[in-house]
Amino acid sequence: MTTAAGNEIEQQKRAAAEAAAQLVEDGARVGLGTGTTVAYLLPALAARRLRLRCVATSPRTEAIARELGLAVEPFTALDELDIAIDGADQIAPDGWLVKGGGGAHLREKIVAAAARRFVVIASADKPVARLRPPVPLELAAFGLAATLRELADARLREAASSPDGGVLADLHTSFEAPQELVARLDAIPGVLAHGLFPPALVTDVLIAGPAGVEHRRPGLH
Ligand code: A5P
Repeated sequence: MTTAAGNEIEQQKRAAAEAAAQLVEDGARVGLGTGTTVAYLLPALAARRLRLRCVATSPRTEAIARELGLAVEPFTALDELDIAIDGADQIAPDGWLVKGGGGAHLREKIVAAAARRFVVIASADKPVARLRPPVPLELAAFGLAATLRELADARLREAASSPDGGVLADLHTSFEAPQELVARLDAIPGVLAHGLFPPALVTDVLIAGPAGVEHRRPGLH
């Protein structure tokens, strides 16, 4: 990617993140995602100086958010979030997502599912005609060899364990319908999480491009 194209993508990430920050209301309970797009969200949110209760999907996000003065608490007492905002690796036209490039997909899915509104923020390189591998996985360390036996096309990442002790991997199996792969992965007990997020989790998608920020609403709730 040329430097000019890279700068354009960075500007788009910032534009999507700043638009999402405007959706957050004073007093909200907010889920903070993880990644390079969310890195633009955190200062934009902090600059609004709202009274917020935040939970973070990764230690990285938590550290940056705290440094910016956002109030982050452990995700133990809150039983619902008003809004969660996060990036994505791939966005299909029907609202299916692939997430987890940064390895935070277990916590990201828990946070998205707990949020009344889940807003995805992305640059124009994230929409795809159809989802494709790899699909990020988080696997239980216990019984790892047996789980990998079931997942012939999974490759372990050279990365530290997740904050929840899970082993990060990527599944390179090609697939047609995401829901069929989801059913297969959900049937393997050692798969703690996968990066396929269904449209039912997603209420808003903000995609920034040369013409501005497009606001899609694929969610079913
Ligand atoms: C983190 O595990 C991921 O789900 C990210 O949200 C996703 O990879 C998007 O990251 P970027 O905003 O860095 O592209």
